[in-house]
Amino acid sequence: MLVLLDQTRLPAEEVELVCTDVPALVRAIQTLAVRGAPLLGIAGGYGVALAAARGFDVAEAAGLLEGARPTAVNLGYGVRRVAAAYWAASGKGEGDAAAAAAALAEARALHREDAQASGRMAEYGEALLEELLPGRAYQLLTHCNTGALVSGGEGTAFAVALRVHRQGRLRRLWVDETRPLLQGARLTAYEAARNGLAYSLLTDNAAGSLFAAGEVDAVLIGADRIAADGSVANKVGSYPLAVLAKYHHVPFIVVAPTTTVDLETPDGTSIVVEQRSGKEVTELTSPQDLSADGGGGIVVAPLGAPAYNPAFDVTPPELITAIVTEEGAISPVTGVGLAELCARSSQVTIS
Ligand code: MRU
Repeated sequence: MLVLLDQTRLPAEEVELVCTDVPALVRAIQTLAVRGAPLLGIAGGYGVALAAARGFDVAEAAGLLEGARPTAVNLGYGVRRVAAAYWAASGKGEGDAAAAAAALAEARALHREDAQASGRMAEYGEALLEELLPGRAYQLLTHCNTGALVSGGEGTAFAVALRVHRQGRLRRLWVDETRPLLQGARLTAYEAARNGLAYSLLTDNAAGSLFAAGEVDAVLIGADRIAADGSVANKVGSYPLAVLAKYHHVPFIVVAPTTTVDLETPDGTSIVVEQRSGKEVTELTSPQDLSADGGGGIVVAPLGAPAYNPAFDVTPPELITAIVTEEGAISPVTGVGLAELCARSSQVTIS
């Protein structure tokens, strides 16, 4: 079985969610009990290992898991990588138990590598901040949730803020609440508090006035998919922050492992952006409502009001100061620079 921390119940309670089959894990992914690009890759990989161990059809399981959410490329990467390890072992005629063991070993390797990547991204991200803004204590703005909850280690963008904090150089982490599902308010604020960071929560609409007041030194966000030209899909609301940052001459920094780079997707317009239920907009949802299929909250719009609810938006490379990966940072962001980082990566390539 696969035991997950149910993120829909945070911050009120820390509750484990036990998945004994693939459909349960697919539901957990779709209701955001497990979420965030790197973690989706890890969970997807363990999902394939679970299917193999329980004697389910691995090809069918991989298809279901990969299709659970469309935007974060890590999900497909984790699923395909672990399935490939399973097929390789079963192709050698080693038997079902050996193939299942190979799948589990690969999922564990992916988990471990993600933790290592997180540590290296934090180092590179901190070095980049020092280069861009030398000798300062920073006020950093972040969006959505990018900490240990979404990673094998301490996360992506949040791991950089955490490292800066540990060095006594974080003045404040500004945390966007991240409507409609409040990953910032529910999860990033929870992680910031647990780690003793100086932080303040703001509504997404309040970011503009913070920039205007000169209270943001840099923006740090994660990514769900980075196209070959350096376009970045991340939680909806990231693109307006990039526009604000450009106008106010504030560095806009994306922190993501190379497993989030998808060289097969040529540009931002080719990224499939997940559209979610309008109920998430027309109702104020509580975490428990989320686990009940994104509805059942306090209704705040006329009955039947149509809603626009993309889960992500796409920021073009010209608005991004730098992309930080476990292989280093690139600035300016170019397709060539991105391809070089990926070529340096020791991450397993899946055909
Ligand atoms: O819909 P979610 O909560 O899965 O979206 C997550 C994000 O957009 C994160 O910012 C992104 O995955 C980067 S996580 C390191």
